[in-house]
Amino acid sequence: MKKADKVAYDKDYAASKKNGKPFFPYAIYKDTIIAGLAILVVIVLAITVRVEMGEPVNPASTDFLPRPDWYFYFAFELLKIFANQNALTPVIMATFMVPNILIILLVIWPFIDRGPERRIWKRPFAMGTAVLVISGLCYLTFLGASTPEGIAKGETLPLTGLDAAASAGEAVYLANGCSSCHMIKGVGAPGPGPELTNEGAKGWDNAKMVQWMKVPVAPMPSFASLPPEDLENLSTFLNGLGTKYK
Ligand code: HEC
Repeated sequence: MKKADKVAYDKDYAASKKNGKPFFPYAIYKDTIIAGLAILVVIVLAITVRVEMGEPVNPASTDFLPRPDWYFYFAFELLKIFANQNALTPVIMATFMVPNILIILLVIWPFIDRGPERRIWKRPFAMGTAVLVISGLCYLTFLGASTPEGIAKGETLPLTGLDAAASAGEAVYLANGCSSCHMIKGVGAPGPGPELTNEGAKGWDNAKMVQWMKVPVAPMPSFASLPPEDLENLSTFLNGLGTKYK
């Protein structure tokens, strides 16, 4: 701060202090009233507004696609940014490292930015950082919101040309939670498994596909416990995807 500025500031400050009211009890009193009103609104809403509880939890369900509430979409997307390494890295990075680095930055910011300037257009670095972080959060939230949803119970895949065996295979695919890791024609999860829309183009025969279902590469679980007939139909279905069944 320039010397003249400092003198002017000190004078201003002394004048304000003489005419002002003390923090205690005036500001505390006002804060208490507003906080009390806010709590009252929450209590009244809790008593009067009924919210839906949703279906009871079914731990045996395999077709449940875990999705967070919208305000956690940014963290949900962060998990995906750090995916494809090992199982722990996304969790450590997205739920611990990144949020905590941002919080620490926020806490130490007043010690880094010691400038007296308070007008926002004179603080391009601080403002730039704020805009960057907020737009980053908005962008990740948007990505999370626009990720394709899973497939609902009773729905089928948007495919044409299915014969009897392939339809039976599709039912096996839907009943075993494959779409929580794979996507077919935009339906299902974008990962961790590869998209299967054109799986038939690989030219595998059913024996090879059945073998894959029994002994796949992790993290895909083994489906060796499915009845042989189901595995056969599933393989027919998968081996025709993108060629016979589009
Ligand atoms: C937990 C997630 C998960 C589930 C559930 C899962 N998969 Fe996979 N799947 C994967 C992953 C990951 C790969 C890639 C493995 C590799 O090659 O490294 C894969 C690979 C595949 C492949 C080979 C794709 C290619 O072109 O290389 C097929 C076919 C397949 N899965 C079908 C299925 C079917 C059918 C089901 C349900 C019966 C299923 N998957 C369930 C994760 C999963």
